[in-house]
Amino acid sequence: MLLHHQLLALLALLLSCIHVDAAFISYPRPSIYSKSAHFSLKVNGTYAYTVSYDGYDYVQLSMDEGYATEFRIALTSGDSITSYSISPERLPISAKTEGNELVFSLTKAHYLIVKINDEKEFVVLLDPSELDVPASSGANVYNVRDYNADDTGKSVTKGIQAAMDAAAGNPGSIVYVPAGLYTIGNLLLRNHTSLYLAGGAVLRFSGDPKDYTTLYNKPDLYNGTWWIQTEINSTNIKVYGRGTIDGNGYNTRKAKFMADLLVPVGTTNFTCDGVLVRDSSFWAVTPIQVTDALITNIKILDRQDVTQDDGIDVVESTRVTVRRAIAIANDDSFSAKTWPYKVHTTVPYPYAPRELRDVLFDDCLAWTLCYSYKIGEGVWEVQDNVTFRNSVAYKAGVGIGIHHKFGSEVASNITFEDIDIERLSGSPGGMASWMAIYVDNAGEGVGPLKDLTIRNIRARQQGSRNAFLQGFNQSSMVSGVTIGDVYMFQNKTPATTFEEMKLFNVSYSEGVKIVNS
Ligand SMILES: *[C@@H]1O[C@H](CO)[C@@H](O)[C@H](O)[C@H]1NC(C)=O
Ligand SMILES: *[C@@H]1O[C@H](CO)[C@@H](O)[C@H](O)[C@H]1NC(C)=O
Ligand SMILES: *[C@@H]1O[C@H](CO)[C@@H](O)[C@H](O)[C@H]1NC(C)=O
Ligand SMILES: *[C@@H]1O[C@H](CO)[C@@H](O)[C@H](O)[C@H]1NC(C)=O
Ligand SMILES: *[C@@H]1O[C@H](CO)[C@@H](O)[C@H](O)[C@H]1NC(C)=O
Ligand SMILES: *[C@@H]1O[C@H](CO)[C@@H](O)[C@H](O)[C@H]1NC(C)=O
Ligand SMILES: *[C@@H]1O[C@H](CO)[C@@H](O)[C@H](O)[C@H]1NC(C)=O
Ligand SMILES: *[C@@H]1O[C@H](CO)[C@@H](O)[C@H](O)[C@H]1NC(C)=O
Ligand SMILES: *[C@@H]1O[C@H](CO)[C@@H](O)[C@H](O)[C@H]1NC(C)=O
Repeated sequence: MLLHHQLLALLALLLSCIHVDAAFISYPRPSIYSKSAHFSLKVNGTYAYTVSYDGYDYVQLSMDEGYATEFRIALTSGDSITSYSISPERLPISAKTEGNELVFSLTKAHYLIVKINDEKEFVVLLDPSELDVPASSGANVYNVRDYNADDTGKSVTKGIQAAMDAAAGNPGSIVYVPAGLYTIGNLLLRNHTSLYLAGGAVLRFSGDPKDYTTLYNKPDLYNGTWWIQTEINSTNIKVYGRGTIDGNGYNTRKAKFMADLLVPVGTTNFTCDGVLVRDSSFWAVTPIQVTDALITNIKILDRQDVTQDDGIDVVESTRVTVRRAIAIANDDSFSAKTWPYKVHTTVPYPYAPRELRDVLFDDCLAWTLCYSYKIGEGVWEVQDNVTFRNSVAYKAGVGIGIHHKFGSEVASNITFEDIDIERLSGSPGGMASWMAIYVDNAGEGVGPLKDLTIRNIRARQQGSRNAFLQGFNQSSMVSGVTIGDVYMFQNKTPATTFEEMKLFNVSYSEGVKIVNS
């Protein structure tokens, strides 16, 4: 019998005989996008496909982890690099400049926001290599090419829905979307199916309201639709791959219309992995009345000149995990909400209002003009056991927050932990702080906040206002708060007083303890 260490030695010998070729993939740039006019990126000596965008540029790659892979970012102007930052700063990534290049090496994939000189930001989206790439054809694969899907984007194609409907007759099957541009109307994801978007595939919203079913109206904005939604009462639906879901939001808003882009709704065991979602005209990804969902490796790149284009809003759902995500938006990056019955945007909700429970946001990166990590504004039904952890705000109006503005229910067992707030600017709704936890009376109810944990937060800036931990009145208190290991600015020791936390607005709060580890 082989001993444990002999077994290990044998394994090492076997591994050393196998030549391992690490690889990375830069997905072909879809025809409608142009390359960055500001940056180039060489990965291990090969140029990657960059994309020019509004406000920031980006590049999307997958790489094998565990091997040192070199990244060289250059300014296309040829200018030399006089200053730079790479977020998340806390990783940290050690970089150097060589001539006009910023050079660093990574063994693990990360989502990074790189700022060089006073150029716009360059968002570097690195995913681990895909493990579960399906065959493009076969017994359980419905390739949209076989359903006459127009991959030039010139017409509004029904081919993807046709493939999806065929797949629905064969539970457990996959709709395969190869690289190409597909302009589509509303897409219904069917029971027990997966939608695979290959890298280089783009589903694009036409922007013409006539191509869509109006589902709701938001009085301060427009009529809206759920662009890509699950069937109601469905289960085991998955959306995955490294393709792009492009909401064409800026143009859609100009046409006085809007859409949530990806809407798992009235479904259970929903999975979303690896896709890039961009340019939403309203809340981009919204699990609504969902039980059991896992959303991973998701990249939401909204424009910051389109309002109310939240990243991920988890609504009235239970057991939802969002992990390894980046959301860049004008409005909230990551939030949890509950709403009233059949009012405006909730008119199409399939069920009576539901409580929201057991939601986890883990390993996220936010960049927003509003809140990075937030409960609210709607607390019309209970929100209980929501955790935001191990996450970073590159830049925000508010770092962490609970804005109890609408509804009278309780938000309880809410945790913010291991969060690094790098930059704060702007002033959403008059708030601009590293922490804004408060009950607001907008004439649509007030309610309590109970049992909050705020732990291990780095606030590198405080924002233009002080922090808030404030109820509204005796029946809408903030109670039972443990706050600790709050590191202000570059301090090496945690704050020991409210003053050191820049926390002065604490009226109608009780049972607040500072506990440093
Ligand atoms: C990049 O090059 C290094 C050194 O040659 C190699 O070890 C690594 O596997 C390469 N990485 C990728 C993702 O190709
Ligand atoms: C909004 O949708 C409703 C219902 O479909 C429709 O009657 C109305 O004309 C639409 N409004 C606009 C401005 O398009
Ligand atoms: C979903 O299921 C519920 C409960 O079985 C049923 O009442 C409802 O009509 C179904 N909804 C749809 C849209 O099928
Ligand atoms: C989905 O399949 C499940 C069985 O797994 C079934 O109970 C449910 O009614 C189906 N939903 C729809 C919308 O067909
Ligand atoms: C959840 O859905 C996935 C397909 O997306 C499936 O592989 C898995 O078995 C489902 N889990 C359960 C518990 O049904
Ligand atoms: C809270 O939610 C998490 C999932 O985010 C879950 O693992 C945990 O069991 C829940 N806690 C309670 C007390 O239900
Ligand atoms: C908060 O969590 C505790 C422990 O899991 C639980 O007993 C309590 O009911 C929760 N609070 C609410 C309002 O659900
Ligand atoms: C708190 O304010 C709300 C909203 O104005 C009101 O309905 C409620 O009665 C107030 N509670 C107390 C104890 O004053
Ligand atoms: C916050 O506290 C300051 C100083 O005490 C006070 O002037 C201000 O009105 C408070 N703001 C709110 C919204 O309560």
